[in-house]
Amino acid sequence: MRKTKTIRIFQNALFASLLTLFLLAISAMLQAEETADYFANKNYIGTELCSACHRDLAAHWGRTTHARIFLQNPGNEIESRGCEACHGPGSEHISDPVKADGILRFTNQSGHAVGVQNRQCLQCHQGGNRIHWLSSVHERFNVGCSDCHNPMANFSSAGLLARNGINETCFMCHQDQRSQFRRRSHMPLLEGKITCTDCHNPHGSTTRALLKTDTVNQTCYQCHAEKRGPFLFEHAPVRDNCLNCHSPHGSNHEKLLITARPMLCQQCHTALGHVNELLTRGGLASGSRPDPRLMGRSCQNCHAQIHGSNHPSGARLHR
Ligand code: HEC
Ligand code: HEC
Ligand code: HEC
Ligand code: HEC
Ligand code: HEC
Ligand code: HEC
Ligand code: HEC
Ligand code: HEC
Ligand code: HEC
Ligand code: HEC
Repeated sequence: MRKTKTIRIFQNALFASLLTLFLLAISAMLQAEETADYFANKNYIGTELCSACHRDLAAHWGRTTHARIFLQNPGNEIESRGCEACHGPGSEHISDPVKADGILRFTNQSGHAVGVQNRQCLQCHQGGNRIHWLSSVHERFNVGCSDCHNPMANFSSAGLLARNGINETCFMCHQDQRSQFRRRSHMPLLEGKITCTDCHNPHGSTTRALLKTDTVNQTCYQCHAEKRGPFLFEHAPVRDNCLNCHSPHGSNHEKLLITARPMLCQQCHTALGHVNELLTRGGLASGSRPDPRLMGRSCQNCHAQIHGSNHPSGARLHR
């Protein structure tokens, strides 16, 4: 009885996974077909013709990295197509320039699926930083390469971005984060010292929040290496995750802390003992008048080495 049930479960699982694979294959084929359909019966006509009508745009584009390579030193056939390396074959477009889908446009109104648009860029930019692009949160939410990039001119000093800098490009959609960086204590991002891509890879990564490295702590250690240790006496929550106590962008508590001290510490240290006595000096009955030693840096007046200690007698993080 049990055996047949197990087999049935196994069969169902096998069937489900085969079905998923099949559906995935179909959707990939459909997308490929969509591109193929769209390019069917069209020919490449060359950059000179495009530039004749789109003179200003072509002049701006002519000063970008792409143009320098595509026009002067193409490494392969796709690059030598110039404008059409991205916009696809233009023969139908020149016979009827107003026809909406005569040429590939990188806008959401154009009727060309974002996946088809992105595929044009991915012809040449697969792998590397984009190794996790497919199924990244941006890809899944239909964000296109052209939402962040505008390769038609040098709007940014590097990276062919849609705005004049990385942070401004991200703020187009992530307004909440802009306000986090305006809080009383914050990472010096609006001051121009760091950018979103110091911590995030907008093209996708192995972490949920698109972090550049494998863990939150690795990301922080890039610049705060002294917090990595090794320490003789570690403080467990520090090793576990900096975000146990800090918010990554900004906070209204000092030093980017998620909450004020001593509450910060007492989220985890609630045991009876001096921790409680310090808070209710004179005993619970006399009300909660905190010990003066809890003012200011509170617990850290005594436990100063909160990130870890290298002192032989620093087990309580005192020194
Ligand atoms: C005969 C002149 C002419 C030629 C040659 C030409 N275009 Fe156009 N193109 C136009 C006109 C006119 C429009 C505007 C149509 C409209 O407003 O819908 C246009 C629109 C476009 C658009 C869409 C613009 C938008 O606002 O979304 C793109 C992209 C484009 N052209 C790219 C190209 C490329 C690439 C080539 C070369 C393969 C090319 N064009 C060649 C005249 C031309
Ligand atoms: C590297 C890929 C790439 C190349 C090469 C390229 N384009 Fe574009 N083009 C784009 C993208 C992406 C957009 C959408 C930009 C945006 O977000 O506004 C665009 C937008 C356009 C538009 C409409 C929007 C506008 O800015 O008016 C026209 C017209 C156009 N391109 C023509 C050309 C012509 C002509 C050439 C060659 C001289 C060319 N493109 C080369 C990627 C490219
Ligand atoms: C035909 C190949 C090809 C296509 C298509 C292509 N690129 Fe590129 N791209 C290159 C090459 C080659 C370079 C320069 C070398 C490098 O950085 O890899 C480059 C560089 C870049 C850079 C860095 C430029 C800089 O100045 O820092 C960005 C950003 C970029 N491409 C984005 C895009 C986007 C977005 C698209 C699609 C709209 C696209 N590319 C389409 C070949 C291509
Ligand atoms: C959410 C915004 C965003 C999206 C979407 C995005 N990019 Fe980028 N991309 C950036 C930023 C920001 C940089 C600059 C990174 C830096 O300088 O640290 C960049 C840099 C690049 C570069 C040059 C440096 C490198 O990583 O090689 C290329 C090439 C590139 N992007 C291609 C693409 C392609 C292709 C797509 C679509 C599949 C895409 N990007 C989608 C934001 C984005
Ligand atoms: C065109 C709009 C757009 C732009 C521009 C954009 N994003 Fe996003 N981003 C989204 C959407 C949509 C999501 C998924 C929904 C959400 O979490 O808000 C997302 C999600 C994210 C997430 C993950 C959130 C989570 O918890 O899963 C991070 C991190 C992120 N973006 C960083 C960036 C960075 C860094 C840039 C600039 C390089 C950027 N984004 C530019 C639209 C955008
Ligand atoms: C100092 C590193 C750092 C910088 C700089 C940074 N982030 Fe983050 N970001 C993080 C970390 C760490 C997380 C949280 C990861 C987690 O919860 O696991 C995060 C989370 C996010 C999320 C998910 C939602 C949230 O707020 O928790 C978004 C969206 C996001 N960041 C966007 C941005 C944007 C946009 C910028 C630039 C304006 C930026 N980040 C700059 C480290 C950074
Ligand atoms: C790209 C470098 C960089 C990365 C990555 C980085 N930081 Fe910072 N951090 C800085 C700089 C720069 C300052 C400002 C230092 C100063 O003003 O003396 C700072 C300041 C701080 C401060 C003190 C804020 C204050 O109000 O004094 C804390 C706390 C902090 N970072 C925590 C983190 C955490 C947690 C992470 C990981 C999510 C992280 N940092 C990742 C560069 C970085
Ligand atoms: C148990 C809570 C806690 C954890 C977890 C924690 N911190 Fe802190 N951190 C603090 C407190 C409290 C302060 C304020 C110290 C002060 O006022 O003397 C601080 C201050 C800082 C500062 C600014 C002052 C300084 O010492 O340079 C930086 C930078 C910092 N932390 C980085 C990190 C990093 C990186 C991690 C993860 C490896 C981390 N913190 C994990 C509690 C914590
Ligand atoms: C996210 C939970 C968490 C937070 C917040 C936290 N701690 Fe801890 N702390 C721990 C854990 C877990 C240990 C290890 C306990 C053990 O090894 O028995 C520890 C150990 C300690 C120790 C050493 C005690 C011993 O028995 O070795 C001291 C002292 C300490 N913490 C003080 C603080 C102070 C002060 C704060 C606030 C700045 C704080 N902690 C915030 C979880 C936390
Ligand atoms: C006046 C100095 C002082 C202050 C303020 C102080 N502690 Fe302590 N704490 C100590 C000493 C001394 C020990 C070591 C006791 C021992 O080794 O037996 C200790 C031990 C600890 C321990 C280890 C377990 C225990 O109870 O013995 C923890 C956890 C701890 N403190 C947390 C805190 C927290 C949380 C705060 C803030 C609410 C705080 N301390 C404030 C002096 C202080």
